[in-house]
Amino acid sequence: MTEERDDRNDPLFTGGVSRRGFLGSVVPAAVGVAVANEALSAPAKAPAPVPEVAAAEPSKLTLTVNGRTHKVLVEPRDTLLLVLREKLGLTGTKPGCERGECGACTVLIDGVPRYSCLTLALEAEGRQVTTVEGLMEGEELGPVQQAFVEEDAFQCGYCTPGQVMAAEGLLRANADPTLDEVRHGMSGNLCRCGTYAHIFKAVGTAARLRKAAPPEKGR
Ligand code: FES
Ligand code: FES
Repeated sequence: MTEERDDRNDPLFTGGVSRRGFLGSVVPAAVGVAVANEALSAPAKAPAPVPEVAAAEPSKLTLTVNGRTHKVLVEPRDTLLLVLREKLGLTGTKPGCERGECGACTVLIDGVPRYSCLTLALEAEGRQVTTVEGLMEGEELGPVQQAFVEEDAFQCGYCTPGQVMAAEGLLRANADPTLDEVRHGMSGNLCRCGTYAHIFKAVGTAARLRKAAPPEKGR
């Protein structure tokens, strides 16, 4: 009489899987893992070499800033912000985010507010650039600057040159803006100190001062 094999006590006899069935499924899986590991540990293919690009030659640029003509050597990548500060020494224009979010670097180009951090210096050739220094009459403040002082429209003051230039541009386009127009016109300039209420008030005061000023000062 043949003795029947009883696998029920075999520790591998679980869940209806026999020892033979278990080995039959585990061995191919182990081989698959080993092959995958080998593939992962194989050295990666070297990336294709990147062709070298020769640095562009500096260009001679003629810039008109605050009514004065300057000749400077600039690289094609130089921003107007960099050239104003580093090459012309006009440090009133402030670098903030340097990616078009805060407005600290605002200047006027042909009378219109622009972020100088997002403007290439070469783009400004042949245009009239005005910085916060250009609003002064000698030692005397311009109407917008005067209004910011009168309305206490700053705390740390870092954003103020940009705010003043944005307000100047707004008032050149619209001499008598409503509060909503002021809010909209100044919306590209952030103030981390949160002096917005004073800034908006200063723009209203600046509008009055500009109207009262002689034409050459009211611009
Ligand atoms: S520095 Fe130009 S927008 Fe912030
Ligand atoms: S006054 Fe400080 S960020 Fe505007």
